Amino acid sequence: MPRLTLPEPRTPDPMDAPVLRWGILAPGHIAGHWATALRQHTRQRLVAVGSRSPERAAEFARRHGVDRVHTSYEALVDDPEVDAVYVASPHSHHREHALLALGAGKHVLVEKAFTRNAAEARELVAAAAGVLLMEAMWTRYLPHTDVVRRVLEDGLLGQVHRITADYGVHAGLSPTHRLLDPALAGGVLLDLGVYPLSFASAVAGAAGLALRPTSVQAAGTLAATGVDAQVSAQIGYGTAQAQLFTSMLTASGHTAQVFGSLGRIEVDDRCYVPAGVTLTIGEATGTWDANSIHGYGGLSFQTAALATYAAEGRTDSPLLPLDETVTILETADDIRRQVGVVYPGES
Ligand SMILES: NC(=O)c1ccc[n+]([C@@H]2O[C@H](COP(=O)([O-])OP(=O)(O)OC[C@H]3O[C@@H](n4cnc5c(N)ncnc54)[C@H](OP(=O)(O)O)[C@@H]3O)[C@@H](O)[C@H]2O)c1
Repeated sequence: MPRLTLPEPRTPDPMDAPVLRWGILAPGHIAGHWATALRQHTRQRLVAVGSRSPERAAEFARRHGVDRVHTSYEALVDDPEVDAVYVASPHSHHREHALLALGAGKHVLVEKAFTRNAAEARELVAAAAGVLLMEAMWTRYLPHTDVVRRVLEDGLLGQVHRITADYGVHAGLSPTHRLLDPALAGGVLLDLGVYPLSFASAVAGAAGLALRPTSVQAAGTLAATGVDAQVSAQIGYGTAQAQLFTSMLTASGHTAQVFGSLGRIEVDDRCYVPAGVTLTIGEATGTWDANSIHGYGGLSFQTAALATYAAEGRTDSPLLPLDETVTILETADDIRRQVGVVYPGES
């Protein structure tokens, strides 16, 4: 079978990014992985942590070698030693916590899902005058995503007609887990489903398709608490359709594919961490998997990207502009409306 050579990613080494002084707002599960990735793969400085609990803040600071410990989020964002704040609280609180940090004039990296809904996202965009606000959709910044982007931009697949993406796990959660809690904007769509949604949007952008979906059809299964436990969606992007699936009920895999008139590209399983890709054009095939950073270490790429963009004086990410984040949340709103999930306080 003829061999294909895939384009190399243009992704900079996270070690090369200009240095910012970071503060973590909400030291939970992902914040721990983020801090480790920062330490192992970047020169970024994690200088402060802010928690609602003095014990959690102190314990996190000890574990990650952080000097400045704040027992309120307000004190963290007001810390003059902090240039940029990483918001790692539950989705329900991203709006409030990002507004705090923006109000203090800091650059802000907000965990995915950016906010509960598009209206909250628009509020943050309006508040981010003169600083860099970025959604921590880390897959956008991973090397394999740039390989896919280059394949699409170079037109190697011809006209793109179909996108598929899947993120399903058998989570086996305790009934009190935040993913099952409507008050914390739980549900699988905002937690895992945003990855397939963002992948489809990235492909649409790189392939020159309509960025705003032309149709959205969704079906889902709700958990006993009323949040979505499983969602499948068919999204139209002009002449292409995306089939997306996400679940906390079944381990359906974590793959993504793009099919065009000339061939297809597939991201290996675990497409949400640094992964390999396979390109097939007619009878010819080739793979790329030259990742030197693995697993959650990949969180370093988005963080280094923010530091680079801030040094360049940018106020928006070129790889995931805020307008696109808002559009993705509009699609998520539409899906939730069809599936029947409304969070407390939403109309
Ligand atoms: N990028 C990824 O791969 C990835 C993976 C997992 C999660 N995430 C995202 O990261 C965010 C946090 O998820 P997580 O799994 O890290 O959550 P988690 O372990 O529950 O941590 C969330 C933290 O938020 C703070 N918090 C503030 N208000 C809260 C409230 N009312 N209820 C509960 N916690 C509150 C808590 O910190 P203090 O009380 O100490 O202040 C808590 O430790 C979510 O947006 C999630 O989607 C991203």
